[in-house]
Amino acid sequence: MQNCEDHRDVDGFRGGAGGGGEIVRCSVRSQAHGLLWRSMSNFSIEELVIPASPNAPGWPSWEAVAALRNIVEAEGFGTDDLQYSADELLPGWLNTTYDPKRMFVARVNSTVVARATYETLLEPNDNHAWLGVQVLPAWRRRGIGAALADRVEALAATENRRELIAYTVSAEATGERLAAPTGFGSVPRDNPEVRFLLAHGYRLEQVERGSRLALPADDSVIRRFRADAAARAGRDYTVHCWSGETPPRWRDDLALLFTRMSTDAPTAGLQEPEDVWTAERLVSAEASRAASPRRMLTAAALFEPSGHLVAFTQLSVPAESNRSVGQEDTLVLREHRGHRLGMLLKSANLEYLAQASPGHPSVTTFNAEENRHMLDVNEALGFVPMGYEGAWKRVETIAGLAEKH
Ligand SMILES: CC(C)(COP(=O)(O)OP(=O)(O)OC[C@H]1O[C@@H](n2cnc3c(N)ncnc32)[C@H](O)[C@@H]1OP(=O)(O)O)[C@@H](O)C(=O)NCCC(=O)NCCS
Repeated sequence: MQNCEDHRDVDGFRGGAGGGGEIVRCSVRSQAHGLLWRSMSNFSIEELVIPASPNAPGWPSWEAVAALRNIVEAEGFGTDDLQYSADELLPGWLNTTYDPKRMFVARVNSTVVARATYETLLEPNDNHAWLGVQVLPAWRRRGIGAALADRVEALAATENRRELIAYTVSAEATGERLAAPTGFGSVPRDNPEVRFLLAHGYRLEQVERGSRLALPADDSVIRRFRADAAARAGRDYTVHCWSGETPPRWRDDLALLFTRMSTDAPTAGLQEPEDVWTAERLVSAEASRAASPRRMLTAAALFEPSGHLVAFTQLSVPAESNRSVGQEDTLVLREHRGHRLGMLLKSANLEYLAQASPGHPSVTTFNAEENRHMLDVNEALGFVPMGYEGAWKRVETIAGLAEKH
């Protein structure tokens, strides 16, 4: 998933149809009293039909999937700040026009115990697929994760998508480390997900830092950062903030900024492809997001000489003020960097948040560990690290294909 400030399965990620009814029966190794038994029982894997709306058929399974996601996120980061409700997750999974995505679940006696996600670009000839596997802690080491990974990897193979990418949290642990080839960050070598991904042939390409800003931020500090940044940026740049949908006159500009998120943010050895946005895609994404109880606050910089937006940042705000706010994408176009626009927009959007939806406990954000410019801005505002994710890649060789000819 393109490198941005948040790539987990929330607002703005790729969409895709559920559907299909294929069920694969598998064996489970059950574990008890700390000993690994090899007694056999059954689990099934099937593609999840995404419910059409809250409480529509399939809703209980969707709620189970959301709960599962939240348990695994909380386990990895040691905080409930990253929780999304089933209602909040649904719109992104229903919007399949531009963001193909599919979900598979593993069940034991009809209870959802694990899930796998499969996301691609709309472009049929692109060869990337973004995969994720999450197993409830009580059901691990029984082969369920491997069976789900096999399922989505096989799907990628049938679609001829040979570059497989997985982002996953690695909780802190003692012992040997596996360093990212970027030279920035590492993950604990003996963690289950690290062993799992290595066993499946993935290579660690990048480490991302999850950070948290405790709210309320000190108003005077935010004001000072904004004023300093505005002075540095000068009069050519003006800040514009809005809630919800992008004003029609700026749709093309925002579409360009989203496209450049996929090319202008550091993606290390992941080499993620360009993901093209148009005004139509933006309208489609924002229309589906309107069904979510969250609302998006945007701050953007207008370059007055050209009349175009050249930078933006977004906050995803839950309806309940006792829940954490998610920092979404932030981007300054390459040709406008060095004018403190990142700090200008982030401080402006925090001020906007304090006015429009006060009382939230925190903001969380994700950045590549080598993305020093963005980390500098976030650290200055008061963000502190809360955990780390590995970004992994496996490239299938075409030897097998070649042999067939
Ligand atoms: C990583 C995860 C998906 C593994 O699921 P799982 O069902 O326990 O995995 P499996 O039982 O299929 O294990 C497959 C292989 O992974 C490795 N592995 C998984 N967990 C391990 C552990 N705790 N210690 C050592 N090796 C482990 C082993 O090689 C294992 O094969 P083996 O049992 O024959 O030794 C699970 O721990 C999880 O959901 N973690 C949180 C989400 C996540 O990190 N996902 C990563 C992929 S995107």
